[in-house]
Amino acid sequence: MAGYDDFAEIYDAWVQSVPLTKHNQAFYVAEYLKTAGTVVELGVGNGRIALEAVRQGKAVIGVDSSTVMLAQCRQRAEAAGMAETVTLIHADIRDFVLPEPAELIALPFHTIGHLVTTDDKCRVVRQVFDQLAARGRFLLDHFVFNPARARELDRAPRLRAEYTSATTGRDVLLWETSVFDVNEQTMRLFAWTDELEEDGSLAQRRYRRLTFSWLHTDQMRAIIEEAGFVIEHAYGYYDRRPLKDDSPEQVWVARKP
Ligand SMILES: C[S@@+](CC[C@H](N)C(=O)[O-])C[C@H]1O[C@@H](n2cnc3c(N)ncnc32)[C@H](O)[C@@H]1O
Repeated sequence: MAGYDDFAEIYDAWVQSVPLTKHNQAFYVAEYLKTAGTVVELGVGNGRIALEAVRQGKAVIGVDSSTVMLAQCRQRAEAAGMAETVTLIHADIRDFVLPEPAELIALPFHTIGHLVTTDDKCRVVRQVFDQLAARGRFLLDHFVFNPARARELDRAPRLRAEYTSATTGRDVLLWETSVFDVNEQTMRLFAWTDELEEDGSLAQRRYRRLTFSWLHTDQMRAIIEEAGFVIEHAYGYYDRRPLKDDSPEQVWVARKP
Protein backbone atom coordinates (compact mmCIF):
# COMPACT_ATOMS: atom_id res chain seq x y z
CA MET A 1 0.00 0.00 0.00
CA ALA A 2 1.94 3.01 -1.29
CA GLY A 3 0.11 5.42 1.05
CA TYR A 4 1.54 3.82 4.15
CA ASP A 5 4.96 3.13 2.67
CA ASP A 6 5.18 6.92 2.29
CA PHE A 7 3.76 7.53 5.74
CA ALA A 8 6.17 5.22 7.59
CA GLU A 9 8.87 7.86 7.96
CA ILE A 10 6.55 10.32 9.73
CA TYR A 11 4.31 7.77 11.46
CA ASP A 12 5.81 8.05 14.95
CA ALA A 13 5.86 11.87 14.98
CA TRP A 14 2.29 11.90 13.70
CA VAL A 15 1.06 9.32 16.23
CA GLN A 16 2.70 11.13 19.13
CA SER A 17 0.72 14.24 18.19
CA VAL A 18 -2.60 12.37 18.50
CA PRO A 19 -3.51 12.04 22.21
CA LEU A 20 -5.88 9.08 21.78
CA THR A 21 -3.03 6.85 20.59
CA LYS A 22 -1.85 6.38 24.19
CA HIS A 23 -5.36 5.30 25.15
CA ASN A 24 -5.90 2.94 22.22
CA GLN A 25 -2.52 1.33 22.85
CA ALA A 26 -3.39 0.67 26.52
CA PHE A 27 -6.82 -0.75 25.57
CA TYR A 28 -5.54 -3.20 22.95
CA VAL A 29 -2.50 -4.29 24.95
CA ALA A 30 -4.77 -5.15 27.91
CA GLU A 31 -7.04 -7.18 25.60
CA TYR A 32 -4.12 -9.03 24.00
CA LEU A 33 -2.64 -9.89 27.40
CA LYS A 34 -5.87 -11.33 28.76
CA THR A 35 -6.40 -13.60 25.72
CA ALA A 36 -5.40 -17.24 26.06
CA GLY A 37 -4.34 -18.36 22.59
CA THR A 38 -3.40 -16.74 19.31
CA VAL A 39 -3.65 -12.95 19.01
CA VAL A 40 -3.55 -11.29 15.59
CA GLU A 41 -3.34 -7.59 14.81
CA LEU A 42 -4.50 -6.55 11.34
CA GLY A 43 -2.74 -3.43 10.07
CA VAL A 44 0.04 -3.98 12.61
CA GLY A 45 2.08 -1.14 11.11
CA ASN A 46 5.40 -0.53 12.84
CA GLY A 47 4.26 -2.53 15.86
CA ARG A 48 3.30 0.42 18.05
CA ILE A 49 0.65 -1.67 19.85
CA ALA A 50 1.75 -5.24 19.10
CA LEU A 51 5.36 -4.83 20.26
CA GLU A 52 4.22 -3.38 23.58
CA ALA A 53 2.12 -6.53 24.15
CA VAL A 54 5.09 -8.66 23.08
CA ARG A 55 7.31 -6.75 25.51
CA GLN A 56 4.80 -7.63 28.25
CA GLY A 57 4.97 -11.33 27.36
CA LYS A 58 2.26 -12.03 24.75
CA ALA A 59 3.16 -13.44 21.32
CA VAL A 60 1.41 -11.56 18.48
CA ILE A 61 0.92 -12.21 14.77
CA GLY A 62 0.85 -8.99 12.74
CA VAL A 63 -0.60 -8.58 9.25
CA ASP A 64 0.08 -5.58 7.02
CA SER A 65 0.35 -4.72 3.33
CA SER A 66 3.03 -2.04 3.73
CA THR A 67 6.50 -3.50 3.33
CA VAL A 68 8.05 -0.36 4.84
CA MET A 69 5.88 -0.43 7.98
CA LEU A 70 6.54 -4.17 8.36
CA ALA A 71 10.29 -3.63 7.96
CA GLN A 72 10.20 -1.04 10.76
CA CYS A 73 8.27 -3.46 12.94
CA ARG A 74 10.75 -6.26 12.25
CA GLN A 75 13.75 -4.02 12.98
CA ARG A 76 12.24 -2.87 16.27
CA ALA A 77 11.42 -6.42 17.31
CA GLU A 78 14.97 -7.53 16.49
CA ALA A 79 16.56 -4.56 18.26
CA ALA A 80 14.55 -5.39 21.38
CA GLY A 81 15.41 -9.11 21.17
CA MET A 82 11.72 -9.97 20.61
CA ALA A 83 11.85 -11.24 17.02
CA GLU A 84 10.92 -14.77 18.17
CA THR A 85 7.59 -13.69 19.66
CA VAL A 86 6.26 -11.61 16.79
CA THR A 87 5.24 -13.21 13.49
CA LEU A 88 4.72 -10.83 10.58
CA ILE A 89 2.58 -11.66 7.56
CA HIS A 90 2.72 -9.49 4.46
CA ALA A 91 -0.87 -9.59 3.21
CA ASP A 92 -3.94 -7.57 2.47
CA ILE A 93 -6.34 -7.69 5.39
CA ARG A 94 -9.22 -8.43 3.00
CA ASP A 95 -7.86 -11.89 2.25
CA PHE A 96 -5.26 -12.72 4.93
CA VAL A 97 -4.94 -16.39 5.86
CA LEU A 98 -3.60 -17.53 9.24
CA PRO A 99 -1.63 -20.71 9.91
CA GLU A 100 -4.29 -21.65 12.51
CA PRO A 101 -7.58 -20.13 13.73
CA ALA A 102 -7.04 -17.26 16.18
CA GLU A 103 -8.65 -16.54 19.55
CA LEU A 104 -8.46 -12.77 19.05
CA ILE A 105 -8.22 -10.65 15.90
CA ALA A 106 -7.91 -6.88 16.34
CA LEU A 107 -8.20 -4.13 13.75
CA PRO A 108 -7.09 -1.07 15.73
CA PHE A 109 -6.72 2.66 15.21
CA HIS A 110 -9.34 3.40 12.54
CA THR A 111 -7.70 1.00 10.08
CA ILE A 112 -11.04 -0.25 8.75
CA GLY A 113 -11.50 3.31 7.45
CA HIS A 114 -8.68 2.75 4.96
CA LEU A 115 -10.95 0.30 3.16
CA VAL A 116 -12.84 2.91 1.27
CA THR A 117 -15.83 0.93 -0.02
CA THR A 118 -18.47 -0.70 2.15
CA ASP A 119 -17.93 -3.92 0.17
CA ASP A 120 -14.28 -3.98 1.23
CA LYS A 121 -15.20 -3.29 4.86
CA CYS A 122 -17.70 -6.17 4.78
CA ARG A 123 -15.08 -8.36 3.16
CA VAL A 124 -12.52 -7.84 5.92
CA VAL A 125 -15.12 -8.44 8.65
CA ARG A 126 -16.19 -11.70 6.95
CA GLN A 127 -12.54 -12.73 6.56
CA VAL A 128 -11.96 -12.10 10.28
CA PHE A 129 -14.99 -14.28 11.08
CA ASP A 130 -13.58 -17.01 8.86
CA GLN A 131 -10.09 -16.89 10.43
CA LEU A 132 -11.27 -16.89 14.06
CA ALA A 133 -11.65 -19.98 16.23
CA ALA A 134 -15.16 -20.70 17.56
CA ARG A 135 -15.81 -18.28 20.49
CA GLY A 136 -12.94 -16.09 19.21
CA ARG A 137 -13.22 -12.33 19.58
CA PHE A 138 -12.95 -9.46 17.09
CA LEU A 139 -11.99 -5.95 18.27
CA LEU A 140 -12.07 -2.85 16.12
CA ASP A 141 -12.56 0.88 16.32
CA HIS A 142 -13.14 3.99 14.29
CA PHE A 143 -13.86 7.63 15.01
CA VAL A 144 -17.50 8.65 15.25
CA PHE A 145 -18.19 11.22 12.56
CA ASN A 146 -19.01 14.59 14.13
CA PRO A 147 -20.33 17.17 11.60
CA ALA A 148 -19.41 20.21 13.72
CA ARG A 149 -15.87 18.94 14.25
CA ALA A 150 -15.56 18.10 10.53
CA ARG A 151 -16.57 21.66 9.58
CA GLU A 152 -13.90 22.95 11.96
CA LEU A 153 -11.19 20.67 10.57
CA ASP A 154 -12.12 20.79 6.89
CA ARG A 155 -9.21 22.23 4.86
CA ALA A 156 -7.66 23.85 7.95
CA PRO A 157 -3.89 23.33 8.15
CA ARG A 158 -2.71 22.13 11.56
CA LEU A 159 0.86 21.98 12.81
CA ARG A 160 1.18 18.45 14.19
CA ALA A 161 4.81 18.27 15.30
CA GLU A 162 8.22 19.90 15.23
CA TYR A 163 11.32 17.73 15.30
CA THR A 164 14.83 17.33 13.94
CA SER A 165 15.25 14.93 11.02
CA ALA A 166 17.43 11.96 11.97
CA THR A 167 18.67 11.71 8.37
CA THR A 168 19.34 15.35 7.40
CA GLY A 169 19.68 17.01 10.83
CA ARG A 170 17.32 19.75 9.64
CA ASP A 171 14.39 21.13 11.63
CA VAL A 172 11.11 19.69 10.36
CA LEU A 173 7.53 20.94 10.66
CA LEU A 174 4.87 18.25 10.23
CA TRP A 175 1.56 19.63 8.96
CA GLU A 176 -1.79 18.05 8.28
CA THR A 177 -5.13 18.95 6.77
CA SER A 178 -8.29 16.97 6.05
CA VAL A 179 -10.79 17.39 3.24
CA PHE A 180 -14.22 15.95 4.03
CA ASP A 181 -16.88 14.71 1.63
CA VAL A 182 -19.84 14.23 3.95
CA ASN A 183 -22.14 12.66 1.34
CA GLU A 184 -19.55 10.08 0.34
CA GLN A 185 -18.48 9.59 4.00
CA THR A 186 -14.84 10.06 3.04
CA MET A 187 -11.99 12.15 4.35
CA ARG A 188 -8.78 12.76 2.44
CA LEU A 189 -5.87 13.44 4.73
CA PHE A 190 -2.81 15.35 3.52
CA ALA A 191 0.26 15.31 5.74
CA TRP A 192 3.30 17.28 4.67
CA THR A 193 6.73 17.95 6.05
CA ASP A 194 8.64 21.21 5.64
CA GLU A 195 12.37 20.79 6.16
CA LEU A 196 14.02 24.09 6.97
CA GLU A 197 17.47 25.46 6.27
CA GLU A 198 19.21 27.29 9.12
CA ASP A 199 18.15 30.64 7.64
CA GLY A 200 14.49 29.51 7.71
CA SER A 201 14.16 28.98 3.96
CA LEU A 202 12.44 25.84 2.77
CA ALA A 203 14.87 23.03 1.92
CA GLN A 204 12.22 20.45 1.03
CA ARG A 205 8.46 19.95 1.19
CA ARG A 206 6.95 16.50 0.82
CA TYR A 207 3.26 15.52 0.81
CA ARG A 208 1.73 12.19 1.84
CA ARG A 209 -1.90 11.33 1.21
CA LEU A 210 -4.32 8.89 2.82
CA THR A 211 -8.04 8.34 2.36
CA PHE A 212 -10.44 7.26 5.09
CA SER A 213 -14.07 6.36 4.78
CA TRP A 214 -16.01 6.37 8.03
CA LEU A 215 -19.09 4.38 8.96
CA HIS A 216 -21.79 5.66 11.28
CA THR A 217 -22.31 3.50 14.34
CA ASP A 218 -25.50 1.85 13.02
CA GLN A 219 -23.67 0.94 9.78
CA MET A 220 -20.73 -0.50 11.72
CA ARG A 221 -23.05 -2.53 13.94
CA ALA A 222 -24.82 -3.88 10.84
CA ILE A 223 -21.68 -5.09 9.07
CA ILE A 224 -20.38 -6.79 12.23
CA GLU A 225 -23.69 -8.57 12.85
CA GLU A 226 -24.22 -9.45 9.18
CA ALA A 227 -20.91 -11.35 9.22
CA GLY A 228 -22.33 -13.55 12.01
CA PHE A 229 -20.78 -11.94 15.10
CA VAL A 230 -22.51 -11.31 18.41
CA ILE A 231 -21.62 -7.85 19.75
CA GLU A 232 -20.51 -8.06 23.39
CA HIS A 233 -19.54 -4.43 23.96
CA ALA A 234 -19.90 -1.15 22.11
CA TYR A 235 -17.71 1.45 23.81
CA GLY A 236 -17.56 5.18 23.18
CA TYR A 237 -13.86 5.43 23.99
CA TYR A 238 -10.90 3.28 25.00
CA ASP A 239 -11.72 3.76 28.70
CA ARG A 240 -14.81 1.58 28.04
CA ARG A 241 -17.45 4.27 28.58
CA PRO A 242 -20.69 3.31 26.76
CA LEU A 243 -21.14 4.28 23.10
CA LYS A 244 -23.45 7.28 22.64
CA ASP A 245 -24.39 9.56 19.73
CA ASP A 246 -21.80 12.13 20.79
CA SER A 247 -19.00 9.66 21.59
CA PRO A 248 -15.64 10.52 20.02
CA GLU A 249 -14.85 6.90 19.14
CA GLN A 250 -16.67 3.64 18.45
CA VAL A 251 -14.87 0.63 19.93
CA TRP A 252 -16.47 -2.75 19.23
CA VAL A 253 -15.91 -6.11 20.91
CA ALA A 254 -17.63 -8.93 19.02
CA ARG A 255 -17.60 -12.70 19.42
CA LYS A 256 -17.89 -15.51 16.92
CA PRO A 257 -20.58 -17.85 18.31
C1 LIG B 1 -3.43 3.57 11.24
S1 LIG B 1 -2.14 2.43 10.88
C2 LIG B 1 -2.25 1.43 12.33
C3 LIG B 1 -0.94 0.80 12.70
C4 LIG B 1 -0.94 0.16 14.10
N1 LIG B 1 -2.01 -0.81 14.25
C5 LIG B 1 -1.09 1.25 15.14
O1 LIG B 1 -2.14 1.32 15.78
O2 LIG B 1 -0.16 2.06 15.28
C6 LIG B 1 -2.89 1.42 9.64
C7 LIG B 1 -2.04 0.26 9.13
O3 LIG B 1 -2.89 -0.57 8.33
C8 LIG B 1 -2.20 -0.96 7.16
N2 LIG B 1 -3.20 -1.21 6.11
C9 LIG B 1 -4.08 -0.33 5.58
N3 LIG B 1 -4.85 -0.93 4.66
C10 LIG B 1 -4.44 -2.23 4.60
C11 LIG B 1 -4.85 -3.37 3.85
N4 LIG B 1 -5.85 -3.30 2.96
N5 LIG B 1 -4.22 -4.54 4.08
C12 LIG B 1 -3.21 -4.63 4.98
N6 LIG B 1 -2.78 -3.59 5.72
C13 LIG B 1 -3.39 -2.40 5.54
C14 LIG B 1 -1.28 0.20 6.84
O4 LIG B 1 -0.19 -0.22 6.03
C15 LIG B 1 -0.87 0.66 8.24
O5 LIG B 1 0.31 0.05 8.67
